[in-house]
Amino acid sequence: MENNNVEYDSFDSTYDEKPEMFGHPYKELQDYFYKSTRRGTLLDLGCGQGRDSIFLASLGYQVTAVDSSKVGINQMLKKAQSQGLEIDGIVNDIQNLKLQRKFDVILFDMLLHGFENQIQQELLGKYSNSLNKDGILCIVYPDDFQAEHFMNILKSLSANWNLLEEITVNDIPKIEGETIDFNFKMMVAQLS
Ligand SMILES: C[S@@+](CC[C@H](N)C(=O)[O-])C[C@H]1O[C@@H](n2cnc3c(N)ncnc32)[C@H](O)[C@@H]1O
Repeated sequence: MENNNVEYDSFDSTYDEKPEMFGHPYKELQDYFYKSTRRGTLLDLGCGQGRDSIFLASLGYQVTAVDSSKVGINQMLKKAQSQGLEIDGIVNDIQNLKLQRKFDVILFDMLLHGFENQIQQELLGKYSNSLNKDGILCIVYPDDFQAEHFMNILKSLSANWNLLEEITVNDIPKIEGETIDFNFKMMVAQLS
């Protein structure tokens, strides 16, 4: 695990109190990746406690998972180890992260929409450059956003981005002490 001593208003204390805060990976996300024949390297940005990373590693992806919460990364690594899975866990801010390699899949689950538009554009520009040829970008967001919002940003970076799927996510695990009164959506895009 790499740790760059991130100073960040982090989820550390919440994750300490709730070791399974976000529950299982959404059924729709599981179905998408179960059905996909794609495997290879996958970067999970803002991986939290690693529910997606662990599931995707169990499917055979080589997962690199990044979060600013050291507690979240440690909880993920412990769970992965207990299941005999290897995940590369990195404690860092995704805005500062410098990558040495490219990936076949890049995932933002419930993170990207929280940044201002300008930062979303910077992050999409930066991580687009970290995708292998034919790689895919998968973004999960609350359904008051639309795929069109992220596609407009991607297309401003390159006209060759294509939306492959937009899926409504209904299987949202309950978060203790919180009410979620919206659905999520998941989009998958690829650069041709
Ligand atoms: C809503 S949680 C989602 C966690 C995970 N993707 C999931 O769906 O289970 C957002 C996560 O993003 C992380 N995060 C927020 N801003 C970040 C940043 N700039 N760099 C790295 N991680 C960040 C938080 O620590 C938190 O774990």
